[in-house]
Amino acid sequence: MIESPKPVSPPQYPDYLPHYDPLEKVDMVGRFDYSNPGQQADPTKRNLFTRASEVIDLSPHCGTELKGVQLTELDSAGLDELALMVAERGCLVFRDQAFADVGFEKQRQIASHFGPLHVHGWMPHPEKGPPEFVIVFDSREDLRIRKSWARKNPIQFHVDQSLEPQPPGATFFCMLEQPQGVGGDTIFCSTVRAYEKLSPKFRKRLEGLMAVHSTANAVSRELRDNGDKSVVRRPVTRSVHPVVIVNPVTKQKALFVNSSYTQNIVGYDDDESDYLLKFLFDHINRGHDFSCRVRYEPGTVVVWDQRVTQHSQTLDYPAGDRRHAFRLTPLANPPIPSLVEKDDTQCMQEEERVMLGLC
Ligand SMILES: [Fe+2]
Repeated sequence: MIESPKPVSPPQYPDYLPHYDPLEKVDMVGRFDYSNPGQQADPTKRNLFTRASEVIDLSPHCGTELKGVQLTELDSAGLDELALMVAERGCLVFRDQAFADVGFEKQRQIASHFGPLHVHGWMPHPEKGPPEFVIVFDSREDLRIRKSWARKNPIQFHVDQSLEPQPPGATFFCMLEQPQGVGGDTIFCSTVRAYEKLSPKFRKRLEGLMAVHSTANAVSRELRDNGDKSVVRRPVTRSVHPVVIVNPVTKQKALFVNSSYTQNIVGYDDDESDYLLKFLFDHINRGHDFSCRVRYEPGTVVVWDQRVTQHSQTLDYPAGDRRHAFRLTPLANPPIPSLVEKDDTQCMQEEERVMLGLC
């Protein structure tokens, strides 16, 4: 006997369903003036901590859950503090949020505090909603995401849209409907700690290098997977960014190459570039000691700073289960190159390396 397919409940957030228009075009983003809200924040984070009933670190180097804080109730000073804290902790998790239900305009207004919102080059937005809303909709009714990953390992750490001249900073991901049961988590890793874990001599080798970031591979995948239904709203975008950047808020250095968009190291021959990038991508992929895993619940919103983290989906729940979310992606400063430090005493300044006899 052939089993009839499971009945599918209607989506809980129909206004946020994905809309694909193969003819839609958007302007290139280009350069803009930017001031980091985290730099003007109260370093004691009084607004956040007086509201928080509990502050739970998810791992030593990445991720903090702030219980009791409602994003929609934060004023400008509170959002500045959020910008500071997310730069320090990489990602912040907020539970039981009203955010999903306050409507496009309020959602856009909150995220815009962190920078002008990016419009994606190929991912869908709501049909009657602002184009800045990136819709993630994996469901029996729409298997586009699932099919695009069908022949690949879904674990791919990346920075969203690192190819922009001014890539994103604090970014919002709001879960609308998650799969039944467990699954569909996001893994975040600290690129600050990824950099710190390298030896001082190797870090110096990386500082000063530049790398090419491009949408070329992503656009060709979109065309291959979706044919005449593919969405390519702007031409292939390309930027050259430092391999090691400095966060303008914390002044910490971070690795800034990722396996989704970084193509090559400027000035290296192809084999040399591939060799170095493979090492750095593997280093991040194996970074379970500097990552955290965020499990979603109804009402969960995650905010992460793309300048100090990379993230990966898991796509581990059954194909056909519905996972529906939206992302708002504020753009930030042009990446700031780290300067090669002239003195060679860095190793002796690091207590742990001295203690382990590594200098
Ligand atoms: Fe992403």
